[in-house]
Amino acid sequence: MDRKKLMDFAKEAAYKTNFFMMDKGKYVPFLWPQPKLISGAGSSLKAPQVLREQGISRVLVVTGPRSGRILAEPILAELDKYGLPYEHFYEVEANPSLETAEKIARLYRAAGCDGFLAIGGGSPMDAAKGAAARIARPNTPFAKLAGVMKLLVPAPPVVAIPTTAGTGSECSFVAVLTDHQREIKIAITDQHLIPKAAILDPELTLGLPQSLTASTGVDALTHAVESYTNAAYGTDFTVRCAEEAVVKIFRNLEKAYHDGGDLEARREMLEASYKAGLAFTRTGVGNVHAIAHALGGKYGIPHGLANSVILPIVLEDYGSVVYTKLAHLAELTGVKTEGTEEQKARAFIGAIRALNARLGLPTGLADIRPEDFDHVARTAVREATHTYPTPVIYTVERCRHVLNRIYLEA
Ligand SMILES: [Fe+2]
Repeated sequence: MDRKKLMDFAKEAAYKTNFFMMDKGKYVPFLWPQPKLISGAGSSLKAPQVLREQGISRVLVVTGPRSGRILAEPILAELDKYGLPYEHFYEVEANPSLETAEKIARLYRAAGCDGFLAIGGGSPMDAAKGAAARIARPNTPFAKLAGVMKLLVPAPPVVAIPTTAGTGSECSFVAVLTDHQREIKIAITDQHLIPKAAILDPELTLGLPQSLTASTGVDALTHAVESYTNAAYGTDFTVRCAEEAVVKIFRNLEKAYHDGGDLEARREMLEASYKAGLAFTRTGVGNVHAIAHALGGKYGIPHGLANSVILPIVLEDYGSVVYTKLAHLAELTGVKTEGTEEQKARAFIGAIRALNARLGLPTGLADIRPEDFDHVARTAVREATHTYPTPVIYTVERCRHVLNRIYLEA
């Protein structure tokens, strides 16, 4: 055995031992807190009461420019009516940066706030959670907070109102931020970042553009499928959440895409995204997310779009290792109920590809550059290794091969 093969073998053994040990403690994440859930059409107007219940007396509202201008307005009017003072940071960009999280934390301290209200897609929620991490650990650089359970101290409370159905950030323990200097995304993952309350108001998602409905919906699907196919940490609870999410997404994503005003489909998609968030917070995501984060950090490719392209390619690359689980998903969704496990699993992957096509999502990414693949693969493998209990442990070579497919299938 040559030196490189020996190193890969040793790495894989260490990785498996780590997951075996951590799998024994899987009921610890099961006991992690869930946000208080408030849902239903118009429920976002209950935000002032929800904030008060959480002991928040001066809130920093965090939004992007669109959610801040249109969607947050009625909620801010309720805060005024209720007499709950607030500051408003409305400049969160897509793929929020470390600098944005720093700015939010500075405003929070200067204004004497004692909690966050994040309104928007994943970006405002992650930026608020990133700022909460910064406030909890003011003297620790973000680079040292990246990874699992590095925060370890309570952070200011976050109440989250998602306006897309995809990220699951309203119930997850992760804040993903972009480090522009190093051209990478970092994921700060800690139970103290789980929002204290989540308000799922489908009315806020009615105006979501088709392309965002599609890419965020497939992001939620990716959370559920990666959680479901992971090799460790799964419990009956996470399995049920992931299965429910997959079924709801297959039934409702296209309805919401074709008729943005379908309130019932929007409500189901918000629930699916939430369930998928509960699942992956306890089991982790996997190689699809690790690659999507690496491509997002390098090229700024939107997260949901990247996931939609990468998901079927990685599932095909996993091969027989995931046939049993994917076959079960094929049965639950009605994609294929007869035949061998392999046939059903392949049909399920085919159904994801077909869904992507009907949603106008691409089959590959033409703008990524082969000369960057080594760097991107190393970044992705670094994230996935010892973080996610993936069904297949990627080496840099195998990840490069997957990147090549992502490039060639464009
Ligand atoms: Fe995601």
